[in-house]
Formats: sequence, C-alpha cells, structure tokens
Amino acid sequence: MVTIRSVTGADFNLISPLLNDWWGGRQMSDMLPRLFFIHFQETSFIAEENGEIVGFLIGFFSQSHRQEAYIHFVGVNPLVRKKNIGRTLYHCFFEKGKEKGITTVRAITSPVNKSSIAFHKKMGFDMARGDKVVDGVFVFSHYDGLSQDRVLFAKKI
Ligand SMILES: CC(C)(COP(=O)(O)OP(=O)(O)OC[C@H]1O[C@@H](n2cnc3c(N)ncnc32)[C@H](O)[C@@H]1OP(=O)(O)O)[C@@H](O)C(=O)NCCC(=O)NCCS
Repeated sequence: MVTIRSVTGADFNLISPLLNDWWGGRQMSDMLPRLFFIHFQETSFIAEENGEIVGFLIGFFSQSHRQEAYIHFVGVNPLVRKKNIGRTLYHCFFEKGKEKGITTVRAITSPVNKSSIAFHKKMGFDMARGDKVVDGVFVFSHYDGLSQDRVLFAKKI
C-alpha cells in the first residue's frame, strides 16, 4: 500500500541521487537543492511503499500571489508509474492548498517532457497560450533564459 507523508530535510539525501535517473538521464538534480526539503515541508510530500520512496512532490504557496500555489517538482519511480501515485501526490497538494484558500495551482514543464505534459493534461491543468506551438503544445520561448522554452500549466482547485 502506498502511504503519503510530509518531506523532511533528510529526504534530500535519498531523493537527490535518484533524480537524473527518474528523469530519463536529464540533468535535473541542480534544480532541486536541499533548501526545498528544509523550507517547504508543509507543502511537499513523499509517497512510500514497503518503506521505500516511490514518489515525491515539492511545492509551495506563492508569497506574492496569495491564492496561488506552485508545484516545482513531481517524480515517480519509473518501475511504478501509471499507478496513480502522481495523482495521489497532486491531490494531497490540492487538499492542503484548499485548506489555505488557494484557488489556482501552477506548474511549468519543458516542451521535451511529453509524459509530464500528458500527465498535467490528465490532471485537469490548462495550458497557457504561449508564443508558439510545438507538436500541438503551446510554448513560451526563452521563458527561463535563452533557448529555455517552457510550457505553463494552471488549474483551478
Ligand atoms: C509525470 C509522472 C510524475 C506521472 O506519475 P504517475 O504516477 O505515473 O502518474 P499517474 O499514474 O498518477 O497518472 C495520472 C494520469 O496521468 C496519465 N499519465 C501519466 N503519465 C502519462 C504518460 N507518460 N503518458 C500519458 N498519460 C500519462 C495516467 O494515465 C493517468 O490518467 P488516467 O487515469 O486517465 O489513465 C511520472 O511519469 C514521472 O515521474 N515522470 C518523470 C518526472 C517528470 O517528468 N515530472 C514532471 C515534471 S516536474
């Protein structure tokens, strides 16, 4: 059975080495420094099965837009994907958000990350209209710097 708990600072040591693997060899670990595991524990979750970490979500409530929250990272062990672990983690985050009056959840992904795009669409996120369309997906060019195009998602909760 999969159980969900809040992250702890120590989870960084367990999750950071998994990231590049779980993202299919992409260099991702630099984007998830330890600070997220220390300062966003109330809005970040770990999924465990038989004592093993099988998934995680790192998110936070916006400081600047008080009714908005942002999911920075979500990852599920490739061996147990498509078993609703990602969905369960998102629902935990949505519930936490509702308790605090959050009405919009945002997430951003890279255009190359087709599974993330498919997952967010299935989770009911809308894609913001970017400045170009690539493979049927709206993309914001240079959103995170030169050639760092991004797909922007939002969902009302
Ligand atoms: C994206 C990710 C977190 C999804 O986790 P998951 O546990 O496999 O997703 P779930 O089983 O909860 O799926 C929820 C819905 O999304 C769909 N979905 C998930 N991955 C999908 C994919 N690759 N292609 C199409 N649909 C997909 C599921 O079929 C399900 O919809 P359904 O109930 O209608 O069938 C997982 O694929 C992953 O870790 N990817 C690598 C990391 C990543 O890219 N993270 C996102 C960017 S930060």
